[in-house]
Amino acid sequence: MTHPQANGKGSRRPTSWWLAMLRRRAERMYEEELDISEPIRFASPVERDAAVAFFNAAYRAEESGLSQAHDLAAEVASWDPELAECLRLYGDEEGWHRSLLTRFLAHLGGEVKPMGRVTGTFYKAYARAERADTIVLANLMFETIGSTTYRLALRRATHPAVRQMLTILTRDESFHVPLNVHFLRETLRHHAGEGGGGALRASVDRLRLDALYHLLFAALVASSAASRRRAQAFDHIPFRELSTAYAEHLARLFLHERDLRFVPSSALLRVFGLDRDALARSEDLSVVSVEAAERAADRARVTVSAL
Ligand SMILES: [Fe+2]
Ligand SMILES: [Fe+2]
Repeated sequence: MTHPQANGKGSRRPTSWWLAMLRRRAERMYEEELDISEPIRFASPVERDAAVAFFNAAYRAEESGLSQAHDLAAEVASWDPELAECLRLYGDEEGWHRSLLTRFLAHLGGEVKPMGRVTGTFYKAYARAERADTIVLANLMFETIGSTTYRLALRRATHPAVRQMLTILTRDESFHVPLNVHFLRETLRHHAGEGGGGALRASVDRLRLDALYHLLFAALVASSAASRRRAQAFDHIPFRELSTAYAEHLARLFLHERDLRFVPSSALLRVFGLDRDALARSEDLSVVSVEAAERAADRARVTVSAL
């Protein structure tokens, strides 16, 4: 089966291409099992607690992703049923991650914990967001830092069960990043096409979205400090490396998807030793690239044809 190479870039594929990918992934998704036959031995209770904190944060991200995707699907159905179906299948993938994480947390000897004050406030604010473009932009940024975190953690993880859990998350979130670029592009186009309220309304909306991009950029980079306090004893990623990686990926993604018109602050990037022009020119060889997303989707096809 060949897919149309719409406009060259992977994230510029049409909705039908994404839908075909998501359907193919869904066919086999629930058959993939976690191998939790061996108990995980931690070096110390501190490391174990940090692992539980790490996967609790992952759990909350999945839970939020699932409900936002399904809520959006219901809304989008009125103007683009095909895109709505993509959102529904995407939410299902997050729901599957959530169920894997529930089991995995139990295997770690932990459980799903109530959210802390800061995390709770954060997700409540996000859950109250109403406009589709706001939700999709925020979600795309969450997916970007999620896949960055998992990839960095995977580089250091040694236990097979931890590696398997992180591999599944890394692989799938890497597919979700360009998928959310597509959602954002389509949502922006829809809002632009609506035209209600005129040019002034449109520019106010755009300013609000820009402000959200910069606010979330700073908040997510700063969140790496709080996550270091809770999870570093498990994932061993130093603050400097994680915060720099967040800044790099949140910047490069949007610099490459130029038509979305979100431009990171060069002053903020300089704090992390990053140069905006150099990022715009450099290729992202990590799992958050579109090419990697295609590999992630193809992986499902390879498994299917191997039977
Ligand atoms: Fe996920
Ligand atoms: Fe995701």
